[in-house]
Amino acid sequence: MSTERFSVLPTTQATAAPIRDDILRNPGFGRYFTDHMAHVRWTLEAGWHGHEVRPYGPLTLDPAAAVLHYGQEIFEGVKAYRHADGSVWTFRPEKNAERFRRSARRLALPELSDEDFIDSLRALLAQDHAWVPTPASEADESSLYLRPFMIASETFLGVRPAHEVDYYVIASPAAAYFKGGVKPVSIWLSSHYKRAAPGGTGFAKCGGNYAASLAAQKEAETHGCSQVAFLDAAENKWIEELGGMNLFFVFRDGRIVTPRLTDTILEGVTRDSVLTLAQDEGLTPEERPISIDEWREGAASGEIIEVFACGTAAVITPVGELVTEEGSIRLAAEGDNEVAKRLRTRLLDLQYGRSEDTRGWLTRL
Ligand code: COI
Repeated sequence: MSTERFSVLPTTQATAAPIRDDILRNPGFGRYFTDHMAHVRWTLEAGWHGHEVRPYGPLTLDPAAAVLHYGQEIFEGVKAYRHADGSVWTFRPEKNAERFRRSARRLALPELSDEDFIDSLRALLAQDHAWVPTPASEADESSLYLRPFMIASETFLGVRPAHEVDYYVIASPAAAYFKGGVKPVSIWLSSHYKRAAPGGTGFAKCGGNYAASLAAQKEAETHGCSQVAFLDAAENKWIEELGGMNLFFVFRDGRIVTPRLTDTILEGVTRDSVLTLAQDEGLTPEERPISIDEWREGAASGEIIEVFACGTAAVITPVGELVTEEGSIRLAAEGDNEVAKRLRTRLLDLQYGRSEDTRGWLTRL
């Protein structure tokens, strides 16, 4: 692979090093952006062309651009990690590239090749590598969060797949997604709102799914919760996922269960990695439907000993309680989320190069 296809227009207004270092010490999540962005254009006539890295800045879009009206848009989340020797790596980017193509097909957008996807990350990092935080300790999960996205930019109000599309990658230094780090979070069960329905876009990483989760997210916040759990639309019974993360249930007998993939669930890269790493931890992973009743009963009987959420942004975050209109579901024993912590350590050690990458999951940027 080669990034030479990307022409580079360097910024003349790079963030001064002391300001950048100050940001990197306390980046939060999604608040600050690096000096450049990658861009590739697509038109029906010419296909993908114009690969470039240019200064980060506002986009110029016609007010009639299709994305602003019909939401024809997809995105990804990928992290870049700085290892102890200063090198910068990313984790299973080919899985994100593949999912990005799947999302593109569902949203009737053009597919970007895996090569263009990974090279765009590399081309951006070649300019902005100084923005990748150096973790202060093994507990520090700071990284550079990369956000590839694709939008329908054609100026046209008719409803059809756009003939002009733009792909960008922006980058944002990131600390833990949840303010408390690995502290268990409270989750609200949305009994009214649904995130996705069969035949819809639930499996695609498109803005519409996240927009559809926001009213429920607001509801969650009024109940003191930081995330929402969604049930399936057909039976209002089966656990699907959170607004932007997958869920795992740890059973006392060593089983670790996550809802099996359907077209209403996003196939998380962290989800897939946890299913593999769980076996290294001597656990037995299961992908199968799991109902809200099983959660309630398993938590009450002590059969379910931990619940955790996972995603690129969230890594692995324990769930302390599920708040529902009928009351809270708490685990019988207030455990120390030992399994979630073990898996989290195993994942972060791999991502930060502290353990051997026996599966070839790391790609140097
Ligand atoms: C990610 O984990 O990368 C996401 O896109 C989820 C979002 C909650 C930030």
